Amino acid sequence: MKVLGIETSCDETAAAIVERDAAGRGRILANIVRSQLEEHAPFGGVVPELAARAHVSHLDGIIRKASADSGVPLAELDAIAATAGPGLIGGVLVGLTTAKALAAALGKPLIAVNHLEGHALTARLTNGVTFPYLLLLVSGGHSQFVLVRGVGRHERWGTTIDDALGEAFDKVAKLLGLGVPGGPAVEREARSGDPRRFRFPRPLLREARLDFSFSGLKTAVRLAAEEIAPLSAQDVADICASFEATVTEIVAHRAAAALARFRAELPQAEPRLVVAGGVAANRRIGDALREVAATAAAELIIPPPALCTDNGAMIAWAGAERLALGAVGGLAFAARPRWPLDTPDMAIDAA
Ligand code: KG4
Ligand code: ZN
Repeated sequence: MKVLGIETSCDETAAAIVERDAAGRGRILANIVRSQLEEHAPFGGVVPELAARAHVSHLDGIIRKASADSGVPLAELDAIAATAGPGLIGGVLVGLTTAKALAAALGKPLIAVNHLEGHALTARLTNGVTFPYLLLLVSGGHSQFVLVRGVGRHERWGTTIDDALGEAFDKVAKLLGLGVPGGPAVEREARSGDPRRFRFPRPLLREARLDFSFSGLKTAVRLAAEEIAPLSAQDVADICASFEATVTEIVAHRAAAALARFRAELPQAEPRLVVAGGVAANRRIGDALREVAATAAAELIIPPPALCTDNGAMIAWAGAERLALGAVGGLAFAARPRWPLDTPDMAIDAA
């Protein structure tokens, strides 16, 4: 089966066509992503209204290109999938409404996809990972541990009580005057810095819960920077390295605890940790997670960076997984600005 996936929940306009064979293996036939980085750069962050307008301007052409690149005419698709939330509601509406119009005009089923489930299921497309597995989702909008039991069967084990991890990287980059996106800029600076020069707080580290908190850390970084201003290039590098080392320690510590819980609660299952979201591209964090997984005798899966950040293939794939189960909703599905992964799933229950 071939499914078109549309993603417009943040600042990427994306469409992809993915094929799923009878054995459940996936193949990407086309994957087009247009970043709006340049539109938002002058404002130092994503402006929702601008994002929605840019999606309106570009989505048609991107869908056409996905069809042309894959050689799959829209009439040959088996379903149309689109992100229906969570995200910036203006953008979600653009993608979902376009998907509904296509589905109605072509007489194909519409599949409303939770953006987070798109991230969660990507490792099945790229690595054929089997259920259950532990997901660490670390992006600009989310920092969560999720037990993925199956399609539409998720248990959230931990989340952030304030900022997301990618957001913390972005805010630190902004206060140091580094460009956007902040994560790669901080990582680049950190390479020539001393990770031991600043001792930043590690909130919640003593607690058993699997939640994160990054806003106090961001404040500590700001105070440290103000104290030694004006900053030399070495100061900036040292702050970035110390910040990166701190969040790496926090993430590694929590991942070890989450894997321990996985072992305790699912003693029959092979322990697996899947990492997704833009921050999964960070080398230092990836290396630390590799160590954690090795110590816990768990398998670590990090999909390629282009499929960890927002894209249409993850939405098309989640749609294909749902189509294979017969979990297809109707055209009436309404866009959701908020949509936690562990929300009861009526389409799966009915399938
Ligand atoms: O998944 P994503 O592309 O978009 C969201 O759904 O949020 O993630 C983007 C986030 C940004 O906050 C960005 O700064 C962060 O991922 N990021 C990184 C790195 N590359 C991207 N953070 C740390 N190190 C990186 N190399
Ligand atoms: Zn995302």
